[in-house]
Amino acid sequence: MSSIRVAILGFGTVGEGVYKTINSHKEKLSKVLGKRVEVAAVLVKSKNKNREIDNRVLVTDDFEEILNLEKLDVVVEAIVGQEPALTYLQKAIQKECHIITANKEMFAVHGSELQKLAKENGVSVGFEATVAGGVPVIQTLQQLLNINQIKKIEGILNGTSNYILSEMRTNDLSFSAALQAAQEKGYAEADPTNDVEGYDAFYKLMILSEIAFGGKPEWAMVPREGITGITEEQIKGAEKLGLRFKLIASIQLVNGTIIGSVRPTLVTETHPLFNIEGVENSVSIEGDIVGRITLQGPGAGMLPTASAVIEDLIHVVRGNQNTVTLCPLSNGEDERAEDKGNQ
Ligand code: HSE
Repeated sequence: MSSIRVAILGFGTVGEGVYKTINSHKEKLSKVLGKRVEVAAVLVKSKNKNREIDNRVLVTDDFEEILNLEKLDVVVEAIVGQEPALTYLQKAIQKECHIITANKEMFAVHGSELQKLAKENGVSVGFEATVAGGVPVIQTLQQLLNINQIKKIEGILNGTSNYILSEMRTNDLSFSAALQAAQEKGYAEADPTNDVEGYDAFYKLMILSEIAFGGKPEWAMVPREGITGITEEQIKGAEKLGLRFKLIASIQLVNGTIIGSVRPTLVTETHPLFNIEGVENSVSIEGDIVGRITLQGPGAGMLPTASAVIEDLIHVVRGNQNTVTLCPLSNGEDERAEDKGNQ
């Protein structure tokens, strides 16, 4: 049986989850793919740390060593921030490796250029793990776009914020205690500012916008607010009135203009997001033919995110995923919606 050789860039929560899942599901992957999947290399920040990685795997802090491996099929990127992630992925594509990323910030800014480069080099890009952890939002959206025009996407896209709001309300935790618990559970980003100030949900929203509407709004025109301004007193006061705070991300097409926002919102018990608690994400997609459908599930965490990465792995290896599916606006306004947003 031939093999698929994978490099994992980064060994934080996501990288480790991918490594563990590939190893714990070797047989299943072989059955599904007809090929053995093996982790050939892991890129780490420091080689000296003790990690549970098989000693046949190259563990290095030098990406060039990984690029120089004789055979490499897929590069999974699970590091944080735009650089060096972007450069690594560009080099991997030029070496004709498929790439899979879980890096929202990088992909929100550079997704379309990476997809273009991948197309030129005949490889695929998987990015299911960039949005909503284990919830297959990207696949679903792409499936719907085969026939639907998307009108609106709305939901809870940051597991950490939702977890913190739930813990503050139900377990009387302070903001910092709840954030610490989210970090210990592996939900929060390395720099949790991205979670609690709404940037993480914002990046995810921009990725969804680009798929759904073929472009992003100007970033400066998207109000973004996180949950740090919400006090324990406000959460308790709202509870007494039967209300809950939710960090809601929303994007829609209004008369050809893409309008989005990320902001904490008070919802009543009749609101569809009222009962979305803990690390759960929930995303409603409204299409012109299908109407509104809602996906819900674990929005962060080691295994849910690994599940999304490995679904991508299966798609790119099978060659049935060409994620370069930016969908031009059907009303002919696609130029207006093009890539104004990157900054
Ligand atoms: N920190 C992110 C969250 C991880 O809490 O949603 C998943 O993208």
